[in-house]
Amino acid sequence: MCGIVGYIGKKNCVPIIIEGLKRLEYRGYDSAGVGVIAGDDITVVKRKGKVTELQNAVTEQNVTGNVGIGHTRWATHGEPNEINAHPHYNQDRSLIVIHNGIIENYNSLKTGLKNIGYEFRSDTDTEVFAHLIDSFIRRGYDVSKSVRLALNEIDGTYGLAVMYAKEPDKIVVARQGSPLVMGIGDNENFIASDVSALIAYTKQIVYFEDGEIAEVYADHFVTKTIHDKEIEKIATEVNLTVDEIDKGGYDTFMMKEIMEQPDSCTNSMRGRLVFDEGTAKLGGLTDVVEKLLDCKRFLISACGTSWHAGLVGEYLFEHYLRIPTEVEYASEFRYRNPIIYPDDAVFFISQSGETADSLAALREAKRKGALCLGICNVVGSSIARESHAGVYTHAGPEIGVASTKAFTSQLIVLGLITLLLARRKSMSIAEGKEIVHAYQELPHKIAEILKLNKSIEEIAEQFKNANNFLYLGRGAHFPVALEGALKLKEISYIHAEGYPAAEMKHGPIALVDENMPVVFIAPKDSTYEKIVSNIEEIRARKGKVIAIATENDTEIDRLADHVIKIPNSARMTMPILTAIPLQLLAYHIAVKKGLNVDQPRNLAKSVTVE
Ligand code: F6R
Repeated sequence: MCGIVGYIGKKNCVPIIIEGLKRLEYRGYDSAGVGVIAGDDITVVKRKGKVTELQNAVTEQNVTGNVGIGHTRWATHGEPNEINAHPHYNQDRSLIVIHNGIIENYNSLKTGLKNIGYEFRSDTDTEVFAHLIDSFIRRGYDVSKSVRLALNEIDGTYGLAVMYAKEPDKIVVARQGSPLVMGIGDNENFIASDVSALIAYTKQIVYFEDGEIAEVYADHFVTKTIHDKEIEKIATEVNLTVDEIDKGGYDTFMMKEIMEQPDSCTNSMRGRLVFDEGTAKLGGLTDVVEKLLDCKRFLISACGTSWHAGLVGEYLFEHYLRIPTEVEYASEFRYRNPIIYPDDAVFFISQSGETADSLAALREAKRKGALCLGICNVVGSSIARESHAGVYTHAGPEIGVASTKAFTSQLIVLGLITLLLARRKSMSIAEGKEIVHAYQELPHKIAEILKLNKSIEEIAEQFKNANNFLYLGRGAHFPVALEGALKLKEISYIHAEGYPAAEMKHGPIALVDENMPVVFIAPKDSTYEKIVSNIEEIRARKGKVIAIATENDTEIDRLADHVIKIPNSARMTMPILTAIPLQLLAYHIAVKKGLNVDQPRNLAKSVTVE
């Protein structure tokens, strides 16, 4: 949430910052601002709305400079407007701060600062930083020490950057709980909350850790802990290209990412399938496989779509491994003093690897001695780095706020983990080979489903004005139903609920009438006949049925108003296929309603605040 970009060097920083903010806009997009050192002063321009509003303003005002910081905001404290947009100034406007995170004790700090004469202009928690740092500068400390002393009084999370007009040769940055990276250039340095803002300029990236503070100059940087201990940081090279984070000819990132799934799924499996042995090879688990095999219980913790992937994981682990598995929202897990036994393993699933609740849950599980495994998409992200071991999903950058390809890749990785462990337990080589074969065929089958795009768009046309939707599925398709409902509500703002199909009779059926579309995930599997009965029950109440069914199923044609037929696959891989038509359905309904699917209202891609 919120995007941070900064530059120090010889070039004009403004276009670099604006370009970086546009790349980060998926992290927050209610207002944006930039601050640039201009002689002895700092020029700040802020605008409500998208980064293009800010871009127009800085162009109009001809703002230029060699040192600057910028921010795109997702509001936490104070409504989205120009005053609350970052950067925030100190009293004499010689110092500015941009911040991603939440200062939990901001009220008491604000009262203390007001008592000594500071006047606040905004409703934000961030402004507290500006005045608090200023209060140390007034005591004679330089800006770096003042930031460090201020941070020692803060409870909460931050990725922040500070510029001080009287020390214009540096930007001071710090991190606690919100991501922050630095890009190293040739006599120029960059800072950002996310690597994607920087890769057009450099691939040499330094990842800051919690509790670190750095002075970033044009030609070097100095990192310390907030307790003043110097530390050495080494840059790593990221292999990400600008093409990967562009729309590639599509109207939206979301459509690009849906359409990319044959490739993203291939990438998630690349080098990991061993057909001859009917198993999977996962380098990131090599050191912990024996421990995992000895585990008596698995826990999975995540948020949102990643939590849905976790629920599919529960079905896979329990069915194939016979290991009891519990899935819990990270936000609940972290606060309820979870019971963790020495022979438990906890999986943390996160596309961004930065979700605040998931990261805090990971740290809590580590404190309690659990073996912690990360399933992350963003390489080098906090969850990936702090886990004991893990597997990257390698879906490639996901920019659209609604998760699509990251979800299917999470399901692939969960399946590969299952396959690897099941083959070490009781799965036969013949079954293992069948599953490997099913994975090998997946990209082709996904491509077949994507060809249904036009017909799914036609179905969307008929339901774009619905006020409610139900999504029903059984077994591992129940979490897919949840995911389908989430996709629809987050981008189309239509109320949608997912339920296990049989549970419908215990309440939701009361909602069904001729205005209620019900999406059934009804592949031909062991529960098919039960699903058919559930469809009949909806039809008897005049509900409109949209069914996701397998291609050779003719029975379903007489039952459903609309049928989306998809190729059949193995039990383990089927949820990957059933998820895709639901992504397309949600997408087209939202687009037909004229909505911005890449940046739905109130949402942000990476939820780095609680
Ligand atoms: C929904 C969506 C969110 C995320 C959730 C967790 O489309 O994207 O529900 O899944 O915020 O994010 P990660 O996976 O980055 O931890």
